[in-house]
Amino acid sequence: MELLATHFDVTGVDKDMKMVQSARLRGLQVAQADAYDLPYEDGSYDMVYCSFLMLWLDDPAKAIGEMKRVAKHWVACLAEPDYGARIDHPAELTELTKYLAIEIERFGGDPFIGRKLRSFFNQNGMEGEVGAYQGVWSVEMLRQQSGQEWANIERAADGQVEESTLRKGKVAWDEALGTGDLFQFNPVFYALGRKV
Ligand SMILES: C[S@@+](CC[C@H](N)C(=O)[O-])C[C@H]1O[C@@H](n2cnc3c(N)ncnc32)[C@H](O)[C@@H]1O
Repeated sequence: MELLATHFDVTGVDKDMKMVQSARLRGLQVAQADAYDLPYEDGSYDMVYCSFLMLWLDDPAKAIGEMKRVAKHWVACLAEPDYGARIDHPAELTELTKYLAIEIERFGGDPFIGRKLRSFFNQNGMEGEVGAYQGVWSVEMLRQQSGQEWANIERAADGQVEESTLRKGKVAWDEALGTGDLFQFNPVFYALGRKV
């Protein structure tokens, strides 16, 4: 949103006041509102988009319908993951990273939302052009983010696997990071639909 706001007149919404306040502190124009009931007139924005939202909604198609109502031309969903498409190397990591998806489900999210975006647009009478950012990080980026990435995996797998499996995974992670063999394919999907 920061980047868009440097070029366009952008208004954001989030239902969580803490998120709203933190965005306002970054100089963004943001209102507290529910994605199912946007406080804007029909057709009041050229484009309405969301990011990393669909996976947390009980009724994503309904939210897209509301975005379509407020949009004049375009509706877009950005950065929606699909953990079913995730690939990790070395193999010891596959056993552990599957718990990232299970953790999202535990918190009420849908880790397999990416593949469903087209269907949500269809349900609203829009043809959604769907694509993906492949999410293959360079080794340099993996090294920079390694602490946080491993912490996420460890948190999700903690208590779900034997201690020894977690330890083996960490050794494999560190070795692969050292040799530069560590690989993650972690795609996030987008969908863009035109209101006709
Ligand atoms: C993963 S965060 C994404 C935040 C931001 N959109 C981004 O891309 O960085 C998901 C956000 O969706 C918000 N959210 C969840 N359900 C919502 C709803 N029904 N209406 C509005 N916001 C909602 C949460 O409060 C949370 O801040």
